[in-house]
Amino acid sequence: MEETILEVKNAVRIYKKHGKELKALDDISLVLKKGEFLGIVGESGSGKSTILRHIACLDKLTSGNLFFKGEEYTGSKPQQMCKKMQMVFQDPLGSFDPHLKMTNIYKEIYPIMPAEDKLAKIEELLGQMGLDKELLDKRPNQISGGQCQRMAIVRALAIEPEILLCDEATSALDVSAQAIIVGHLSKLKEKVISMIFVSHDLAITSSLCDRIMVFRKGKCVEEGETRRLIEDPKEEYTKELLSSVLKV
Ligand SMILES: Nc1ncnc2c1ncn2[C@@H]1O[C@H](COP(=O)(O)OP(=O)(O)OP(=O)(O)O)[C@@H](O)[C@H]1O
Ligand SMILES: [Mg+2]
Repeated sequence: MEETILEVKNAVRIYKKHGKELKALDDISLVLKKGEFLGIVGESGSGKSTILRHIACLDKLTSGNLFFKGEEYTGSKPQQMCKKMQMVFQDPLGSFDPHLKMTNIYKEIYPIMPAEDKLAKIEELLGQMGLDKELLDKRPNQISGGQCQRMAIVRALAIEPEILLCDEATSALDVSAQAIIVGHLSKLKEKVISMIFVSHDLAITSSLCDRIMVFRKGKCVEEGETRRLIEDPKEEYTKELLSSVLKV
């Protein structure tokens, strides 16, 4: 049996808005195995970003438990554990300081490493993402959205996470830039990194992920191995999502 790297047990998150309660997460449980790519799909407001934020310790659950390699980290902010999970967001441009050249981001990540070692490390990661090292001399607005997002992934990988949490990481990009990123992300499987890939796009998610969970209104309505879910969806809502992909 493969090692479980992350476990979420009965996660509930209630937000209060204008005196009303909203269950953004309504009893979500999930298990992520080492090296596994798990997709989470669902309509807007279904709780996809909320679950990622809680896994990454950016918000606190109302109830439920979080475990990293069997060790509970619910409600605490264990720096070491959270470092092992890196997030990649939808808007690549917004995640970089527009005034700084790309090369600056690496100074933050490896503050005490000798310059040559830093550069060698970053060049290796750039290569993995199909990026030229000349890009390090550019500012975020001098490169394409797709390149900028791949830079954001390089930055996340440089911290050497064990889990990559991608929230709509390809959604702002055109189809060809999406395909390039998905291609590079697939290759990360060889590195035995684990990933949760959140997207409203079932087609992209199914091309990348081993297993998919379908969220609706804070609940998981269906989950399964990707091929089974696509070829033989059990729930009406999954069938609706699939038919909208086929129409496109
Ligand atoms: N900090 C917050 N305060 C209040 N309500 C919130 C907060 N964060 C999320 N919500 C609500 O929780 C629900 C789930 O939001 P979430 O952002 O997780 O949806 P999502 O599935 O990521 O949607 P999208 O596809 O549009 O990104 C929404 O109704 C949202 O308005
Ligand atoms: Mg979201």
